[in-house]
Amino acid sequence: MADERFLGLDIGTSGVKAILVTPAGEVEAAANTPLALSTPQPGWAEQDPEAWWQATLTSVRALLAQRPGARVAAVGISGQMHSSVFLDAAGAVIRPALLWCDGRTTAECAEITARAGGEQQLREWVSNPALEGFTLPKVLWLRNHEPAAFQRLARVLLAKDFIRFRLTGALAAEPSDASGTLMYDPTRQRWSAEIMQAVALPLSLLPDVGGSAEVLGRISAGAARASGLAEGTPVVGGGADNACGAAGVGAVAPGEAVSSWGTSGTVLAPTARPLVDPGLRAHTFCHVLPDVWYVMGVILSAGGAFAWYRDQLARELAGTADADMALNLEAATIPPGADGVTFLPYLQGERTPHRDAAARGAFLGLSLAHSRAHLTRAVLEGVCFALRDSLTILQELGLSPSSLLLTGGGAKSPFVRRLQADVFGLPVCTVNREEGPAYGAALLAAVGAGAFPDLPAAARATLTRAPLEQPDLRAHVQYEEPYRRFRAWYRAARPPREVATT
Ligand code: XUL
Repeated sequence: MADERFLGLDIGTSGVKAILVTPAGEVEAAANTPLALSTPQPGWAEQDPEAWWQATLTSVRALLAQRPGARVAAVGISGQMHSSVFLDAAGAVIRPALLWCDGRTTAECAEITARAGGEQQLREWVSNPALEGFTLPKVLWLRNHEPAAFQRLARVLLAKDFIRFRLTGALAAEPSDASGTLMYDPTRQRWSAEIMQAVALPLSLLPDVGGSAEVLGRISAGAARASGLAEGTPVVGGGADNACGAAGVGAVAPGEAVSSWGTSGTVLAPTARPLVDPGLRAHTFCHVLPDVWYVMGVILSAGGAFAWYRDQLARELAGTADADMALNLEAATIPPGADGVTFLPYLQGERTPHRDAAARGAFLGLSLAHSRAHLTRAVLEGVCFALRDSLTILQELGLSPSSLLLTGGGAKSPFVRRLQADVFGLPVCTVNREEGPAYGAALLAAVGAGAFPDLPAAARATLTRAPLEQPDLRAHVQYEEPYRRFRAWYRAARPPREVATT
């Protein structure tokens, strides 16, 4: 047992990460292969599933090269949610995937809501409203806009399920990611025949659903040759990146809450029953362990907004190893509230709380007195304010965490940790692992391989929490006015339609 290793994969938006974890939970090796994002039109976002596959092979081979002879007992896969892989009957990819942050399907969302007979019906069937980023509107978009491609459509898979398909030949899904398709009923834990019938799509488009820690396939001979993994290695169900990210910091039980700062930003809290926001501003999905759900607010541009800012407006730093650190230090020279500058991070539209794919980013309140450092601080504050909108919804639902576990980029930077604590007015906490969703996926692999009886046991055995970092309550009060400004200025980020049409 001691020489067994668990491989965690995360098919992210900015790259594919692979890690090798020991039975004691140590991360023995890691590899990351970057991915590019294609934005053919403002608000659109695509990636080629073939690029995910090639990046997966590159990362796995690089990982195994660091530990020649490593005995991989099981593989777990996590991945970006909602992103649609369209396959034909031969298993070939029909067109690039429309991603979770693609906003082109507003008309299809209205079509789904109308065909279902209203949002209350959707809530009853799938616990969530029709939102542009979810998978079902993308299938309808294909039908409405690319009928020849739709004619060929035989299967719809999510990113990590496509990688499982390539690794094992198995067509399979699991509840945490299936919940984000708008085709799965998180309450009854089955594909929703009701919604599929309402939109006139066959259930045969959808793969079988197994457990997140259950073995759903084994590495095929071909994938073994391509990846270096042993033929027959088990691959477990894995999970949605947000669910695996929560598992990767030990947030597997009600009472916990996580703030995650990846390309997107999320605030989520596990629940003991499928709790639905009456305003449908937050999502309700299955977690990666049986009979646990979570409520989650999602902002579409967190790390994505920061990376855009760095690459476009701090070009002299782009490509340097410590660019992010340099920008954090720059932001720290400016007081809370950025001397009146506000940044709205709605570069790809926004999900929570606005449900507005047409929203756009903005800097507001600029004067000649402001420097680049003010803009930098405003970007980081704007992301935290947007996350606070999501936290507020969770609090309104009675999910009032006493502290927040941090994961992703916002957990690694001391400045952004403090910013989150002060803006949220809550203590924040990190754990001894920084690998996020890939770590949660590795823990699921370890459970699937029998190294632990269940996910809570795996988390207890491998994760330790750092002491809480307390908010500075004076700073929290100082952020009230800038946060109010941030909320008030959202309207300014909407395209002035009435002006454009006159
Ligand atoms: C969640 C969402 C994003 C992606 C990022 O609903 O769309 O957080 O999962 O990969």
